[in-house]
Amino acid sequence: MRSNKLLLVSLILAVAFVASATVSMAAPIVMKFSHVVAENTPKGQMANKFKELVAQRLAGKVVVEVFPSSQLFGDNKVLEAMLLGDVQLAAPSLSKFQKYTKSLQIFDLPFLFKDMAAVEKFQQGPEGQKLLMSVEKKGLIGLGYLHNGLKQLSASDPLRVPADAKGKKFRIMTSDVLAAQFKAVGAMPLKKPFSEVFTLLQTRAIDGQENTWSNIYSKKFFEVQPYITESNHGLLDYLLVTSIEFWMGLPDDIRAELKKALDEATAFGNKVAAQKAIEDRQKIIDSKRCTIIELTDAERQLWVDAMKPVWKKFEKQIGKEYIDAAVAPN
Ligand code: LMR
Repeated sequence: MRSNKLLLVSLILAVAFVASATVSMAAPIVMKFSHVVAENTPKGQMANKFKELVAQRLAGKVVVEVFPSSQLFGDNKVLEAMLLGDVQLAAPSLSKFQKYTKSLQIFDLPFLFKDMAAVEKFQQGPEGQKLLMSVEKKGLIGLGYLHNGLKQLSASDPLRVPADAKGKKFRIMTSDVLAAQFKAVGAMPLKKPFSEVFTLLQTRAIDGQENTWSNIYSKKFFEVQPYITESNHGLLDYLLVTSIEFWMGLPDDIRAELKKALDEATAFGNKVAAQKAIEDRQKIIDSKRCTIIELTDAERQLWVDAMKPVWKKFEKQIGKEYIDAAVAPN
């Protein structure tokens, strides 16, 4: 009788030992973070910071693998891949979500935000926070916004007034608002992936593009575009995005720790973005490879007048309440 009991206890202990060994030996959760920019950009540095924080705080539990420069997916494929479970984190530009929600189109409206402080205020306010969940119906969750900054216009010819853009071909991200913005000045917009922009500019297949100082610098667009108009006409920020299936499938404590690391990495990335908007602009000027065109108030107003009718066109799709909230900080 006593030996039977002993046998049972040893059996239970053995099973418990094997179970605990299996748990402690369980493979860590792998989070693939795919993006399209270089590592020395705000998003590139944010991604690397996130990886570093997770390695410090969730060692053995979660491993973040970062794939920069469209190495794993371009932005045209990354969200589909996310829904299939092939990638767990991405931060596409807010301009690339139109298949998933119409509301985020607000961020493409030309001359909507006066500066990055106005952007931050809107994003962190109630409407901005509500927009994070606008992709939920499609199986995605917006975990936060990440800044890059305001866009400039680069071109093979000087662009001072809207008429200078007439008939010219501009690469745009996959956004109907951006298409309307260029059509409003008589230009021809072409939706093309980021990875193709340099070659399109170099071969003169297109005349120009719009982007932030850090993207123009890190991808060397300034080497093949002799003019940059400092227009600050639109925003290029990102949505940090994951799939509901992945995110809600995580243990609560791990999800909370990941969100904390993500918020810290984002704050870091936002600082880099603010610095790079100044430093990369200066590096481009110092390179002497292209002329920076600064607009007078009157010239700038011509661009505003030409492009602003786009707001009305998209007001219904976006929701007027969001547009009103976005312009309030101005
Ligand atoms: C672009 O396609 O121009 C940008 O979205 C690239 C990026 O991620 O900053």
